[in-house]
Amino acid sequence: MNREDFPLLKNNIIYLDNGATTLKPYILTDAINDYYQNYSANVHRGDYDITIKADNMYEEARKTVANFINANKDEIAFTNNTTDSMNKIIFGYFKDILKENDEVILSKSEHASNLLPWFELAREKKLVLKYAKLDSNYELNIDTLKSMINEHTKVISLAHITNVIGDLRDIKSITEFAHQKDIYVVVDGAQSVPHIPVDVKELDIDFLAFSAHKMYGPTGVGVLYSKYMKDIKPIIFGGGMNATYASDFSVTYNEAPESLEAGTPNIAGVIGFKSVIEYLNNIGMDKIYEHELKLKEYAINKLKKVPNIILYNKNSKSGIITFNMEGIFAQDLAIYLNKYGICVRAGNHCTKILKDEIGVKNTCRVSLALYNNEHDIDELVYVLSNPNIKNEII
Ligand code: ALA
Repeated sequence: MNREDFPLLKNNIIYLDNGATTLKPYILTDAINDYYQNYSANVHRGDYDITIKADNMYEEARKTVANFINANKDEIAFTNNTTDSMNKIIFGYFKDILKENDEVILSKSEHASNLLPWFELAREKKLVLKYAKLDSNYELNIDTLKSMINEHTKVISLAHITNVIGDLRDIKSITEFAHQKDIYVVVDGAQSVPHIPVDVKELDIDFLAFSAHKMYGPTGVGVLYSKYMKDIKPIIFGGGMNATYASDFSVTYNEAPESLEAGTPNIAGVIGFKSVIEYLNNIGMDKIYEHELKLKEYAINKLKKVPNIILYNKNSKSGIITFNMEGIFAQDLAIYLNKYGICVRAGNHCTKILKDEIGVKNTCRVSLALYNNEHDIDELVYVLSNPNIKNEII
């Protein structure tokens, strides 16, 4: 759907790497150009017309993002990306409240941005990190997760949709039982917010992180949502986040979210992101999800007939398809596909401990977006079915 809105699709590429980042619609670049050409002033510090316009657009964007996930405006901070949001959550909130022997539950299919900040904090505070065991489809099982909880469990931190297996976690059930035991739930929404409707109130999420660039928006803009926003402390200090400071070294910070947005933000990006969210609202997130799930089903039905293919996540409920070809190194396969204009990601996908579960370090990944269609899949299947594939790669 909406292929004509994406200039790069005119170049005959088959872009199937949307989990890494998505292509950008004209509506984004138009909004960014408009800012740079017509009112490119700073925000939150000026008293003249074009700065007031920039301010209004930036704060309108915060409202638009908040409405998109059913949050309040003051529960949204703009960051650089999901990783930045996760670090701000973990070091700005949990560093203060967690203590030695407190337990945090993760899984081995988490992306690095939901693991490495926890590894660091665990070292610093002597926390205990545990991995919820995955089932035979490499998906999270809620009963297994529940069985790991004890009086030391303080946080469950999980991707909503994982970036390699693509399993959609039942966050509502997780928050329901976690909150009965006063356990916080942190959600990495990098692969979910771009693809499914997410309502933070309905899911009762405590903290959510996601990136604009994976949802047709600009690079360098992330979102941190929290119902505990006011209690998140800044971890980056400087202009824009303080109310006052003096030569005696005293300082008063603004309240969050302002205190979490030190320095000049990515104003053009945030304003562009607003236009993209309006664009997505017009299409409808439920329609996008339905389209991607249907296309995944179409792809799996065709791919499973390709000789020597190994599919790792046939049934996961998202547009992510992870595979290998018997006897071919994943990256070689990606390079081969590139010869035919097909873009997929190969490697460990920044998910370096999932290999403990699936037994292979590197895979190829197709990740779908709203503009992908059956033709994209037919081309992929055609090229993967080439009887001379091994010779072409060697
Ligand atoms: N996390 C991104 C991916 O999965 C970069 O490709």
